[in-house]
Amino acid sequence: MKKLNIGVIGLGRLGYQHAENVNKCIGANLVAVSDPFPASLERGINDFGVKGYADYKEMLADEEVEAVVVATPTQTHFDVLQDVIAAGKPIFCEKPLTFTVEECEIIMKEVEEKNLYLQVGFMRRFDPGHVAAKKMIDEGKCGKPIYLHDCQRDPNGPPPAYVPQSGGLFVDMAIHDLDVARWIMGREITEVYATGAVLKHEFLKELNDVDDGQILLRFEDGGMGLIEISRNANDVYDVRTEVIGLEKSVFVGQDQMTPFKVVGGQEITYDMSNWVLGRFKDAYVNELQAFVTNVREGNPSPVNAYDGLMGIKLALAATKSFREDKWIKIEY
Ligand SMILES: NC(=O)c1ccc[n+]([C@@H]2O[C@H](COP(=O)([O-])OP(=O)(O)OC[C@H]3O[C@@H](n4cnc5c(N)ncnc54)[C@H](O)[C@@H]3O)[C@@H](O)[C@H]2O)c1
Repeated sequence: MKKLNIGVIGLGRLGYQHAENVNKCIGANLVAVSDPFPASLERGINDFGVKGYADYKEMLADEEVEAVVVATPTQTHFDVLQDVIAAGKPIFCEKPLTFTVEECEIIMKEVEEKNLYLQVGFMRRFDPGHVAAKKMIDEGKCGKPIYLHDCQRDPNGPPPAYVPQSGGLFVDMAIHDLDVARWIMGREITEVYATGAVLKHEFLKELNDVDDGQILLRFEDGGMGLIEISRNANDVYDVRTEVIGLEKSVFVGQDQMTPFKVVGGQEITYDMSNWVLGRFKDAYVNELQAFVTNVREGNPSPVNAYDGLMGIKLALAATKSFREDKWIKIEY
């Protein structure tokens, strides 16, 4: 079968990694990259040996580009997605799909009408540990899942300039945990209650954000959950997901990064990942492989526009709950 020719829009932290990963996928070719920032574009052209476009609209007009990865800042997603949808090319888009529920609804309607493939970059669904846990639950080996505990801790506080465009802690970080929660429990969240505080990075107070948060969850059918998010993991990136079933429990984490440790002086030392790109390096390749395989074979998206919509709806509900100090019911 012919390979899928892919173009990547946005060559920042995530986009560069996605461009690199396209060539690790079976059945895919990276053929073009786009970024308006000359140094990023130059680096992409040189490192990957592909065509470069300062204007992504010109890349979309390139007939060789058959499918597109969108990894621009979130506030540009809606406009970029409108153009990609108009061009009729299958889409892999980073999370959050957009910052508003209304924009997600428009995108969902448009891709449904055009029968266009769209996959959202919730990469934890492709992490081998999370996949193993989900498989156990779906096969009924844990019994009914009744309780979720999930935490995500960033190594350090964000750069101050990033905060105003991040959407805040509950959108920027917890959107991943909220997606994992509804996916791994296999049912929707009905209510959220969130609290938060600045525990370390005082500059966040002026920016109206927090560095630590907790979200209580109520699920359809009676399940409960707790999500913890933090920017204060002291130089490591630490993600854990625990699901308690009526018969068995599953625990996903990755304390140790490299399979190597030093023992001596009554101590054991080993490394941990210090950033999301390291901890989920396999998940980022696996999600793109799913994109390539599904587009080539005509399969439905495993993380579709509705999942993107639910991610931002839940993250905004958590933000509102924190601001107003009350439980928020999720409207369906
Ligand atoms: N899945 C994850 O784990 C994860 C982690 C971090 C960021 N993200 C998401 O990835 C997206 C990008 O984040 P980032 O951290 O890579 O940002 P970044 O700022 O590092 O990179 C964005 C890049 O997009 C380029 N860009 C801006 N406007 C553009 C346009 N119109 N056309 C083409 N390129 C354009 C910028 O020049 C920059 O190089 C965001 O939506 C973010 O939420 C996801």
